[in-house]
Amino acid sequence: MCGIVGYIGGQEAAPILLKGLHRLEYRGYDSAGLALVNQSGDLNVYKCKGKVSDLEDYLMDKDATGTIGIAHTRWATHGIPDNVNAHPHFSRSGKIALIHNGIIENYRVIKDALIANGYTFRSNTDSEVLVNLIEYVRDTHGCSLEEAVRVALKQVVGAYAIAILEKDNPDEIIAARQSSPMVIGIGNGEYFLSSDAASIIDYTNDFVYVKDGEVAIINRHKPLSIVNLDNQPASIDITKLELSISELEKGGYDHFMLKEINEQPRTIFDCIRGRISPETGEVKLSGVTDNREKFINARRIIFVACGTSWHASLIGEHLIEDICRIPVEVEYASEFRYRNPIIRPDDIVIAVSQSGETADTLAAIRLAKEAGAFVYGICNVVGSSIARGTDSGTYIHVGPEIGVASTKAFTGQVTVMAMLALAIGKERGTVSDEYYREVSEGILSLPDKIAEVLREDEHIAGLSKVFTYARNFIYLGRGYNYPAALEGALKLKEISYIHAEGYPAAEMKHGPIALIDAEMPTVVIATGQDTYEKTISNIEEIKARGGRIIALVRKGDTRILGIADKVIEIPEITECLTPILSSIPLQLMAYHIAVCKGRNVDQPRNLAKSVTVE
Ligand code: F6R
Repeated sequence: MCGIVGYIGGQEAAPILLKGLHRLEYRGYDSAGLALVNQSGDLNVYKCKGKVSDLEDYLMDKDATGTIGIAHTRWATHGIPDNVNAHPHFSRSGKIALIHNGIIENYRVIKDALIANGYTFRSNTDSEVLVNLIEYVRDTHGCSLEEAVRVALKQVVGAYAIAILEKDNPDEIIAARQSSPMVIGIGNGEYFLSSDAASIIDYTNDFVYVKDGEVAIINRHKPLSIVNLDNQPASIDITKLELSISELEKGGYDHFMLKEINEQPRTIFDCIRGRISPETGEVKLSGVTDNREKFINARRIIFVACGTSWHASLIGEHLIEDICRIPVEVEYASEFRYRNPIIRPDDIVIAVSQSGETADTLAAIRLAKEAGAFVYGICNVVGSSIARGTDSGTYIHVGPEIGVASTKAFTGQVTVMAMLALAIGKERGTVSDEYYREVSEGILSLPDKIAEVLREDEHIAGLSKVFTYARNFIYLGRGYNYPAALEGALKLKEISYIHAEGYPAAEMKHGPIALIDAEMPTVVIATGQDTYEKTISNIEEIKARGGRIIALVRKGDTRILGIADKVIEIPEITECLTPILSSIPLQLMAYHIAVCKGRNVDQPRNLAKSVTVE
């Protein structure tokens, strides 16, 4: 939520900042802006409602020169998306400019105190309050900007990644972080700052992750300095990151989402590479071998996650209970953190997150650690806050996911969970050799089978057009595919704005069947073997009420072909891995329906990819 970027060095800052903003647009895209100090010492702020491309147009006839600058792309929290609420925000004197990602929870109290001291505000944002608080502290204490930032932040409750530029000190950016991501790229005589290393990977591979409660003093003539709020020096650990630039581009596809859906044979290959032996089928996850005793003795596993990652966790629950015989609970991180949960030291908490920055999931991790539980992470973004804040974990390694709707991360998460279940099950002796082999061979076959599903794209695009009229959808699944139904419904609603609900198929009779009519299509995942006959009955019941059915079936299924309106075939695979395959046609269907409806698929309204605020 909101992306921040900064530059200081020998190059013109604006092109670097704008490129960075484009890469950060997945974090928010309702307005954008930048601040630069030019050679004459003017602090220029340019900002406007809309996308980064609108900001570029706006800058055409402006003086956007300067070798120091900060920039922001916004996901509105306080105040509507407009030119005034866009960042950067000026202090009252116009001498300090600030960009902020996060929420200042006690901004109202601070604002009232500043108003009592004669301050007035242009915007409705909490961020403008913060920049004025900093100026107020500096003026009343007569201290440096850096000290004022530290003193001001001690009064702040909330989450922030901020970068500050001062007209009278064009050699320095002050940055600070609490619960919102921030990374500093170290170049040759230059520094880069961002919410996400991927946005500045063109310029450097050396990164310093700023930690909670730290303030960075980024001076063009000095080595990087980082202190805590009490001005005690903090350690500066440089992390080397390698990322291919092509992963950050659309690569010929119309949208990142379509590219990411199509990448899945490769991303799943990357996810399992080196973790399952193609010869023996043996799964090796260092996170499990290094913590063998913990997994053997675990009394319970609790998944904490949000959104799509929560759906993946529901599949993880089935896998682990099935294969490892450990009781599992799946919690929305946002609920878990506020409901005084029972967490014991022999619980393992597994935090699942694509971005590794989700505020609620981070808070759930803190809670679990305080209670003495062992916390394991399943993350995509290398070096993210969750990856660094967990005791151990497994990266899903699916590469940057830029489309706001999560696709390849979901299949990567479930694939990791399947490997995790096998690795733990083996250590605990709860899985038969035969079933172990069947599942590990199934995992190894995923890249080819996903490619087979993707070859159905034209068929799926065709049937998607037929259903673009619908205003509501129901998605049904059972067992392993109930979470896949929830995920299919989420994909459709978030990018097409069509209302969709996922249900376990047998729940239909308990209420939702009342909704069925010719206007309400039902997507049925009918790949399960144990519940096959029952699912056919569910389909018949819907048909009897005039409902239209899109069914996902196992390859060669002729019975459902005869009843459903449209059928999509899924290759044979062991039951527990079917949700990985069944989720892909549902991703494609959501994509094609959204495109037919003219939606902005990669940047759907009101959403942001990385939810770093509560
Ligand atoms: C849906 C989607 C969101 C995220 C959720 C958690 O397509 O992307 O529901 O899954 O915001 O995000 P992460 O996984 O980054 O913690």
